[in-house]
This record gives sequence, structure tokens and C-alpha cells, in this order.
Amino acid sequence: MTPPPLLIRHARILCPNGEFLMGDVQISGQEIIQVAPSIALPTGAIEIDAEGLTLLPGVIDPQVHFREPGLEHKEDLFTASCACAKGGVTSFLEMPNTKPLTTTQAALDDKLQRAASKCLVNYGFFIGATAEHLPDLLQAHPTPGIKVFMGSMHGALLVDQESALEQIFAEGHRLIAVHAEDQARIRDRRLQFAHHTDPAIHSQIQDNQAALLATQLALKLSKRYQRRLHILHLSTAEEANLLRQDKPAWVTAEVTPQHLLLNTTAYQTIGGLAQMNPPLRSPHDNEVLWQALKDGVIDFIATDHAPHTLEEKAQPYPNTPSGMPGVETSLPLMLTQAMQGKCTIAQVSHWMSTAVARAYGIPKKGAIAAGYDADLVLVDLDTYRPVLRSELQTKCGWSPFEGWNLTGFPVITVVGGQVAYERGTLHTQVRGRALAFESTAP
Ligand code: DOR
Repeated sequence: MTPPPLLIRHARILCPNGEFLMGDVQISGQEIIQVAPSIALPTGAIEIDAEGLTLLPGVIDPQVHFREPGLEHKEDLFTASCACAKGGVTSFLEMPNTKPLTTTQAALDDKLQRAASKCLVNYGFFIGATAEHLPDLLQAHPTPGIKVFMGSMHGALLVDQESALEQIFAEGHRLIAVHAEDQARIRDRRLQFAHHTDPAIHSQIQDNQAALLATQLALKLSKRYQRRLHILHLSTAEEANLLRQDKPAWVTAEVTPQHLLLNTTAYQTIGGLAQMNPPLRSPHDNEVLWQALKDGVIDFIATDHAPHTLEEKAQPYPNTPSGMPGVETSLPLMLTQAMQGKCTIAQVSHWMSTAVARAYGIPKKGAIAAGYDADLVLVDLDTYRPVLRSELQTKCGWSPFEGWNLTGFPVITVVGGQVAYERGTLHTQVRGRALAFESTAP
């Protein structure tokens, strides 16, 4: 069913050149058809008064773990997509560590079908690499790319042998996205630090060197085969410095808001809730990552939304699962940084939308211009309020940023020309679409 036309009026619109225009945006079907200082209300159009609000392209979150199928007690595609709509995330790319693993076309089709029936926002799903499924990795469709866990994973999805990795890099052309941590080093250090139950030890066990070793190996293989490589959640100063010196044109990297804004001091305040992979690092790492992001060494931002229940998170280390939710807080966290002078709003929008669309070859997304899809978020940059557990939509029901006083919360989120979230209310009948991936060139 075609949605009624929309006219967003009196907004402060972020234009593709990074400048703001005070004006109107006309939407017909799922597309933006006009952006101008003043547009007459078309017959039958719904008018949205955006006075005092800033209009940004919808966030594209390129790394989330939404747990369906198989782990729905933590999250499912409906609850996760509600959290997305509330957080201004209009598209997501989801990871294959569900049950069953997304390692075959059948498993990918199953996720696509589930998403079509219950997701309020647009979706894409990675195909997971195992040593045994090479043909699936080459043929699976549609997918943003191949996810390789070089470390921090159990079972079939772990590909930690260089020979198996080399086979994956050698065959085919599509993007390979790596979780870069060196499993051999992690194994050794787990033995060395056995009997520690303070979750803070996690950052020492899976240390900077473990991340650097894996990133070095991925880079080496990518250069050997000129293979499109994306480094997921880059977390250390050492990796950022490596890429600063040696980053081929076909390599991209992302960073999470957690690795920019939290560090090992978070274990003192939120304990095991701060445990994630790769782990939180030092304040020095925070600063080097920020600089790398600003300089374009790191290309964009992902949340690594990885929900676990509070009961699971309350277990003693090392039984605590790693991961934290993020899609509801990422945009206000980053916009708050912009309002406090750390970066600009245009940079935030580039890192959270435009650059992601470009890197994954997602057509017609990541900009507010005629001909682009109407995936939009109107944010309020005047009001500050705290992140409250009681307001969260994610099924896991917590955030590492509870109590943080933020601005830039979404007021209205539009997905494909339909209002999916409006001033505290989710429009749960709205459905997103499967994303297309035109090319995986950076
Ligand atoms: O901390 C993490 N948890 N990092 C990942 O990359 C995976 C994730 C999960 O799925 O729980």
C-alpha cells in the first residue's frame, strides 16, 4: 500500500553539502521528491510541523546482533526494530551469530522473511563464514558481505586458522567484514588470568595486542588478494595507527560509540554491563580513535548492539556474556558530542548514514535530496534529558548509558515515507524493506 504523501515543514535540513537549509521536504511514496525553502501543501498530504527541529538522514547501523532466530529471550526482530525506530535508526545490517547460524542461503532467506513480517525499519543480513561453507559465501544474496569472526566466538563461526582465512580471502570479490581479535592469544591469556572474577580483567585478557595481531593478519590477506575488507568495531590506538600508515583504498573501518565514549573506568560504575568484545580500552585509546575518525582513518560508526538479559549479565566473570545494546542511544550520544564541540552535526550524520551507504553500496540512502529514499529522522537539539531504563524499547531492558544526560533524541522517525516513531509513540504497523547492495567498493 502506498503511504499518503508527507510534507515536512519548517525544518532545519542537513543538506548533502553539509550545510543547513531552513525549509520543507516533500515526500511521495517512499521517495523524497523535493527539498526547498517553501513548498505548497500537496492535496491529501500529511503535514509535519518541524519548527525548531533538525532533519537528518536516517541512521544506518552497520553492525547489530538482533538474536532472531533462536535467542529471542534477549531480543527479537520486532523489539529490536522498535528500538531502532525510536533511536532514529532506519536501516540495519545484522550479524550471523543467531541460532541457527546464518551460514546458508536458506538461513538468510528465513531471516529476510521474518524481517519482512515484523521489522519497522529496513534490513540486511550478513552471511557468516565457516571453514566449510565457501560456496554459500560466494553466492548468498542479498547480503552486505561475509562476516568472519577471527576471534571471540565459539563453534563453527570461529575462523582462526590462517589457512582457512586465506581461502575465504582468495575466493570471490564481495566484502569481508572481520571481528579482529586473535583467538590464540586470547586462549593463552584466559589461562594466565584464570580465577579472576572481576569483569575488569576482560580488557586485559583480550588486550590491545590481541586486536592488533588480528587486524594485521586481515590487512595482510586483504592486500595479498586486493580483497574488499571492512574492520568491524576497531577499538585500539595501535590499530588506528596501523591504518593511518597503511590503509589501501579497498579497506574501511568502523568504531562504536562505546569505544569512543567509555573506557576501562566503566567497570567500576557498571561492572559486567561494561563487558563487550572487543573490550573497552583506555582513555588514551578513546582519544586516538576520535582523532582517527575525524581524519577519515576510521570511516563510520556502528553500535554492535548485542543485547543480553540482566540476569545473564549478573553472572560472575568469566560466565558473563559480552555485549551491550546500542541502537536507541547511538544518535543522541553522538549528537551530544557534536553539541559539546567535539565534532560537527554534519560529521555525525556522515559517519552514521552517508558513509555507511557509500561503503556498502546501498542505493538511494544516506542523504536528504530529491530521488533519495525518505528515511529520515527529526531530532531535538535544544532539550537535554537522561537515558532512562523505563523508556527503553530493547527487550534486554538496560543501557550502559543510563543516567547520561543527552540531547538530539529523535522526535519523529520516517522509514520509506512512513512515520514509524512519533513523539514517544511507535507506529508498529510500519514495515521496512530489504536493503539492496549495489557494490561493495568503498
Ligand atoms: O561483545 C560482543 N557481543 N561483541 C560481538 O562482536 C558479538 C556480541 C554478541 O553477539 O553478543
